[in-house]
Amino acid sequence: MAEIILKNITKEYENGFQAVKNVSLDIKDNEFVILVGPSGCGKSTTLRMIAGLEDISDGDLFIDGERMNDVAPQHRDIAMVFQNYALYPHMSVYQNIAYSLKIKKIPKSEIDQRVHEVAKSLGLEELLDRKPGQLSGGQKQRVAMGRAIIRHPKAFLMDEPLSNLDAKLRGQMRVEIADLYQRLNTTFIYVTHDQTEAMTLGTKIVVMKDGEIQQIDNPTNLFSYPVNKFVAGFIGTPTMNFFEAECAEENGLVVLKTVAGRIVMNDAKAAKLREGGWIGKKVTGGIRPEHVILSQDGENTVFSGKVNVFELLGSNAIIYVETEAGMIVMNTSQVQVYEHGDKIALSVIADKVHVFDPETERTVTN
Ligand SMILES: Nc1ncnc2c1ncn2[C@@H]1O[C@H](COP(=O)(O)OP(=O)(O)O)[C@@H](O)[C@H]1O
Ligand SMILES: [Mg+2]
Repeated sequence: MAEIILKNITKEYENGFQAVKNVSLDIKDNEFVILVGPSGCGKSTTLRMIAGLEDISDGDLFIDGERMNDVAPQHRDIAMVFQNYALYPHMSVYQNIAYSLKIKKIPKSEIDQRVHEVAKSLGLEELLDRKPGQLSGGQKQRVAMGRAIIRHPKAFLMDEPLSNLDAKLRGQMRVEIADLYQRLNTTFIYVTHDQTEAMTLGTKIVVMKDGEIQQIDNPTNLFSYPVNKFVAGFIGTPTMNFFEAECAEENGLVVLKTVAGRIVMNDAKAAKLREGGWIGKKVTGGIRPEHVILSQDGENTVFSGKVNVFELLGSNAIIYVETEAGMIVMNTSQVQVYEHGDKIALSVIADKVHVFDPETERTVTN
């Protein structure tokens, strides 16, 4: 159990590089929080500062109300699971899991009972005598988690724990981690660069870029109401389409004019665009592939072009269309087979259009 608070935390490495800039974050007791962002955005640095493996340059870290900046890692009562598992290669699975209790001089009989309990909960009972070299990636990952769990820590920190596993195993371990969280009822902070992993595991997702927090939200809101173009493009796959447009007022309606057509904004978006003084200005439009539709009668065409690539994925298809506005990707469940070069006219679901300030890249229609 732990409540973890980061208050204006900054990390400047010795070479002067600021890897984490003024990050503030409240993590409640028993919360599962995900830090997600592209490689190099400062996720690991943030986690390592919480664990005490990296000094905090500026700001305050509180765990259960106590300032922890200068407390040694072993006294923070936090367990960290690393991407490369960091198992002791010469020790058996049993010894790896037991190690932290052994150095605390806990009686052998208690260690034995706790190791078996943890091994049972992770399906490792048959493997206790093996050395890490004789285990698969998924099994090593489970041992690493077992080693963390056995300490009954206040919080678990996990740094890309699944990134060395193949796709199928990753999916399976994701479910196991979610299950583990339910059973342990402990604070989890989980780092990943994979937005799908973040969206399926987390209820509170922290999106980072260049050492800064961009948005903290639940998966639904991140998907529907990204605060800026970066979050809009980072969350969701295939990624959101962006296009240039001009915001205009026509017959009392607010429209986005693209090279090939126009999109009528709904009342809420129209009001935001009017209030923000966007009429007559250039904006960046955004539409997710699942909200691009076929233009039936040509009337509502927003983009037109030729099919570049057609990918049939079973119940849906991804169509990459080369248009006047650049490549527009469509994800459709109305599967109809297209060939390379086929002409196609596209429309969009107007309610799902996002509008960004082309300079600051902030969303102007939320
Ligand atoms: N010891 C270091 N000295 C200088 N720069 C570092 C050091 N460690 C990491 N960095 C830089 O800090 C940034 C953030 O790194 P990191 O927290 O590992 O990112 P992430 O985990 O999001 O991929 C990166 O640009 C990385 O190159
Ligand atoms: Mg990292």
